[in-house]
Amino acid sequence: DEKTLEAEFQRRIDNEEKIEPKDWMPQAYRKNLIRQISQHAHSEVIGMQPEGNWITRAPSLHRKAVLLAKVQDEAGHGLYLYSAAETLGISREELIDALHTGAAKYASIFNYPSLSWADMGAIGWLVDGAAIVNQVSLQRTSYGPYARGMVRICKEESFHQRQGYHILMTLMEGDERQRKMAQDSVNRFWWPSLMMFGPHDSDSQHSGQSMTWKIKRQSNDELRQKFVDQSVEQAEAIGLTLPDPDLRWNEDRGHYDFGEIDWEEFYSVIAGNGHCNRDRVAHHRRAHDEGAWVREALDAYESKRSAARTA
Ligand code: ACO
Repeated sequence: DEKTLEAEFQRRIDNEEKIEPKDWMPQAYRKNLIRQISQHAHSEVIGMQPEGNWITRAPSLHRKAVLLAKVQDEAGHGLYLYSAAETLGISREELIDALHTGAAKYASIFNYPSLSWADMGAIGWLVDGAAIVNQVSLQRTSYGPYARGMVRICKEESFHQRQGYHILMTLMEGDERQRKMAQDSVNRFWWPSLMMFGPHDSDSQHSGQSMTWKIKRQSNDELRQKFVDQSVEQAEAIGLTLPDPDLRWNEDRGHYDFGEIDWEEFYSVIAGNGHCNRDRVAHHRRAHDEGAWVREALDAYESKRSAARTA
């Protein structure tokens, strides 16, 4: 019966066994995973927009080639993740539809505008840096296809982070205006990057169950702290200042203390009221509609092929 199946399922999780698509799983586990993986996929794809905005304005052919490759990688990450979600019995159409209607979220950070070339640096360094901290942890998530997807994504993501850091490093070695541009970008992206880890553990509605099922392996606050600790030294190394007067080393905790996040801003952005929410979704809708002919062509090709097979 259900109770025995559920106990056996939890025993496998406790034993660090991976759950695979055809295995029995509680409905709520399936639902929670579809929610998290699909929102993760949407984040990768919507995340192409702030950077795509600068491809034509990259300062050199070299930077342009790198940025183009990076944005393409993000599309690839989205596709691995959509595929992982589909193994749970939901269709791509349903997933995209939930993004368009606002039923599914995507990372709040991508609702901030990319205003300068330095933002390509800050996004790579901080946004991809935060994403890696979270995704390294998710390599050990209990659902097999998600965990395996994370391994590959993390490899690509660490290249993204370095290219961003390199952009900022180069600007910090430049003239006064370039250094100012880099600092301004870090000032705007620091706090939204901390928000990527989600609400405090005490306010995180999904964390308890997700930790028991090992969908999440470390909590929102633990991962955020890890990110702060690694970022402080990286900022110092190239002469950037993180915009937080409360940031200081705490000898007793062995971690950096930091100031309080503006949670009102966080909740307002995830409710759809950030600078770019409407544009981001409208742009995705437009690209999706314009791509309808590709999906139709695929269907036509597939029905021809299956007709040939049965003939
Ligand atoms: N942006 C948008 N929504 C968020 C964010 C955020 N930064 N943080 C939390 N939320 C939402 C949650 O999705 C949830 O809403 P929902 O019930 O409608 O889905 C609500 O706020 C409450 O948060 P939690 O209970 O803490 O949610 P959860 O346990 O899912 O933790 C987290 C949030 C940490 C983002 C988790 O889902 C996760 O690890 N996801 C995978 C990583 C990911 O999505 N990365 C995308 C950004 S990185 C990139 O793509 C480059």
